[in-house]
Order: sequence, then C-alpha cells, then structure tokens
Amino acid sequence: MSAPDVRAFTVGPVQENCFIVRAAADSPRAFIVDPGDEPDRLLEAIEALGVRIEAILITHCHFDHIGAVAPLAAATGAPVYCPVIERPLLTDVMSWVPPGFGPFESWEPEHTLAGGEHLQIAGIDIDVLFTPGHSPGHLTYAVPGALLSGDVLFQGSVGRVDLPGGDWPTLERSIEQLLRSYPPETIVYPGHMGVTTLRRERDTNPFLTELRERVPVTAPAAQAPSRAS
Ligand SMILES: [Fe+2]
Repeated sequence: MSAPDVRAFTVGPVQENCFIVRAAADSPRAFIVDPGDEPDRLLEAIEALGVRIEAILITHCHFDHIGAVAPLAAATGAPVYCPVIERPLLTDVMSWVPPGFGPFESWEPEHTLAGGEHLQIAGIDIDVLFTPGHSPGHLTYAVPGALLSGDVLFQGSVGRVDLPGGDWPTLERSIEQLLRSYPPETIVYPGHMGVTTLRRERDTNPFLTELRERVPVTAPAAQAPSRAS
C-alpha cells in the first residue's frame, strides 16, 4: 500500500497540526487526526477536498488537540477514537483547559484505544501504537510510510514532559520504539511544527543524544579524511 495523501492544517493559538488523511489525492474518503481548533476552517477544507470524514482520531487529549472534536463529530457524523486513559479529558474538556483558552465542547467518544489495535479506515491500514511520555495515554497512528505522532517527536525537538503524566524516560522509550520499529525514511507528521522523518530526528535531534548511542545514526557518505600538510 502506498503512502497516503496527508494535508496539514495548523490551527488555534497553540499552532497545533491537524491532518486530513486520504489513501490518495483523488479518494473521496478520509479520516482526520487531532482537530484542535478552528472547526469552521476544517469543515471548509473538508468540503473543498470533497471528502467524507470516516473517523476522527485523537493522539492525546491536551486541549490544543481536541478543541474542535465535538463540532467536527457533530457536523460529519464520524466516530471519534480516543486514547482510553485520556477519555475523561474529552468528556469534560473545560475542566482541563488553562485560563484564556476555549470554550470547547466535550464529546463522548464512540471508541477508545489503548494501543496495539489495527484499524482500517477510509481504505488505509492503521496500526495504533501506545507512545506515552508526553501524556499518559498518548497514541501514535502508523500508516503506510508515515507516522501521525502527536506530541511525541518534533522537528529538532520532543514533546514537553512537565505536564501531568509527563515523564522523559517514558517518552524516550516511546521514541526509541518508533525508531526501532519503522524505517528511517518514514515520514513524521507531528502535532506541532514542520514535517520531518525518523532519519532526520535520529541523526540530528539534540534531545536524542543518549538514544543515538543505542540506535545507530546514519553513516555519513564515505569521505577521504582531509589533512593539513
Ligand atoms: Fe500535548
């Protein structure tokens, strides 16, 4: 199965990345990952793309990733898949939102996921991976050739671990699991900032210095050592 067509929409005051994923650019079926804010803009994009949203997948339930779940679920009728450990945050959103953000609507998810599940949605095979550390129930969605990895791994950075349930050794293990399980050319669609690859982060991410000692970096192209005469 070839890599899906992924469209990114950066939404809300925290600049969160929401993704609309289709098997191919001409597919009328799609799923959406982490609709965090700006539901009207996302619904316009869905209409412009001419797709039917068949599922709403959530990587984790920090407010910036779920703020538009309820309006999108209501408007599209798509079932919501939520990390099971973090379900109470989705069903009572405003109890967890810092002052100055929102208001957001709660939603009762149609499905919960713990990691280890295999889904097929909109004609795309999805492996659900448990990747805690940034948040306690965080999930990564693996599709052919790419990872939708929420706030696990960023371009040149990693998810913060100072929020409730965050833990660096746990996050580092989650990142190691991704690096060991998927080829280096795997595209990473993260929850914030730009798209990257496992190879780029494995080789250059300053937060993965210790991890690099366990997961070898890509050898640079062979070069004759230059020596001053
Ligand atoms: Fe987060």
